[in-house]
Amino acid sequence: MTGLLKDETVLVVGRGGGIARAIACAARDPGARVIAAGRDRHALAAAYAGEPDITTDTVDLTDEATIAALGERLGTVGHVVSTASARARGRLAGLDRDAVRLSFDTKVIGPLMLAKHLSPRIGEGGSFTLFSGVAAAKIAVGTLAVAITNGAAEVLARSLALELAPIRVNAISPGVIDTGAWDALGEQGKADYRKEAGPRRKQDSERKPDSERSKTMGLSWQQSPLAPAAVGRFLVPDPLPDRMLFAEPLRRRMRVRFGDTWIVDSEDVVLLHEPGRYPVAYFPLGDVTADVLQPDEHTTRHRDLGTTSWYTVRAGTQSRQRAAWQHTELPDHAGDVKGRVAFAWRAMDAFHEEDERIVGHAADSYHRIDIRSTSPHLVVRSGDWSPHPTATC
Ligand SMILES: NC(=O)c1ccc[n+]([C@@H]2O[C@H](COP(=O)([O-])OP(=O)(O)OC[C@H]3O[C@@H](n4cnc5c(N)ncnc54)[C@H](OP(=O)(O)O)[C@@H]3O)[C@@H](O)[C@H]2O)c1
Repeated sequence: MTGLLKDETVLVVGRGGGIARAIACAARDPGARVIAAGRDRHALAAAYAGEPDITTDTVDLTDEATIAALGERLGTVGHVVSTASARARGRLAGLDRDAVRLSFDTKVIGPLMLAKHLSPRIGEGGSFTLFSGVAAAKIAVGTLAVAITNGAAEVLARSLALELAPIRVNAISPGVIDTGAWDALGEQGKADYRKEAGPRRKQDSERKPDSERSKTMGLSWQQSPLAPAAVGRFLVPDPLPDRMLFAEPLRRRMRVRFGDTWIVDSEDVVLLHEPGRYPVAYFPLGDVTADVLQPDEHTTRHRDLGTTSWYTVRAGTQSRQRAAWQHTELPDHAGDVKGRVAFAWRAMDAFHEEDERIVGHAADSYHRIDIRSTSPHLVVRSGDWSPHPTATC
């Protein structure tokens, strides 16, 4: 993550230990300024004493006024993480209404309010991360209220992702990590729950204890094979170039909406992956509606792809300067994007892949697999052979 978090401000809400602390230190180490915020600032300050570049602040996620005040004090922020949690454990018969309400208030409504007050302060490339948990995926007797709270947190993340794009919204669902969070179950209870919800594979149970593993926990972001912070390496004798661009056919229909109309509709999109950037969709010029692209005087230089010419995009009564671009003097090895144009994500009204609107950026299938609904018939082929005429998906 080196470089990507350097000089960024990262807010981590929660306690001074456990997962919150692991995130605070993991963000601080590559150069972020970390603010750890929680209900008891003094306890937090004591917990982080001796940790450089981690300062502390106050927030109670069940109190909107403290969230708004924290936002005022921060001004702007790059990344926000909420780990706060108040689990309401127990079987149905023993569940206390106030405890269940507090669980939702802390882990669902609190992060919702945090998003309300802090998202306007998050800049381009920023993110908002909240926590779900294993109980939502592995339903068990005794963790009903924890499960429904976590489930709601996941739906919250998906809803926020749509509304806050291009801010990236993540929900992390840890398995069972011995941060002290399970101590209330007692040793036998912990062992039983770990058996119920924990890893199933034999070799997992033979690994290091959870408490040791949690110390090496990492968040994987920008760590795919071609990313600047790739965690692995290609097994080749010579080092690869520092920067490598990768172009591939999207193989899905993509459309762009602007000025109340579709300005491009293509089944021949090329996706360009560039280190440190979200993938960008390049459309054949011939698939763009006539007169939508008005050449601009403005040109820039792409460090790998040479001269970039910009277009004003016009449709209906709408017009946006520098809203599309084309690389006009491509080196021979980059012919895949020749005669193609890309549209600035934020300048357009919407991008659709098949029949679904996509948010944030063109999908990167190396990070996430998205299944899209589509109205055309799906044809399955292997060479010239097709098992059945068509199937609908
Ligand atoms: N550990 C696991 O095995 C596991 C499994 C699944 C999911 N998770 C999730 O991962 C996250 C971190 O887990 P963890 O085990 O490291 O920590 P944790 O024990 O769940 O700590 C959560 C902390 O949130 C803080 N908090 C509670 N109410 C708050 C409020 N109203 N405003 C601000 N802060 C509040 C509390 O800190 P103070 O008491 O200092 O105020 C509390 O200790 C949690 O969301 C948890 O549910 C953990």
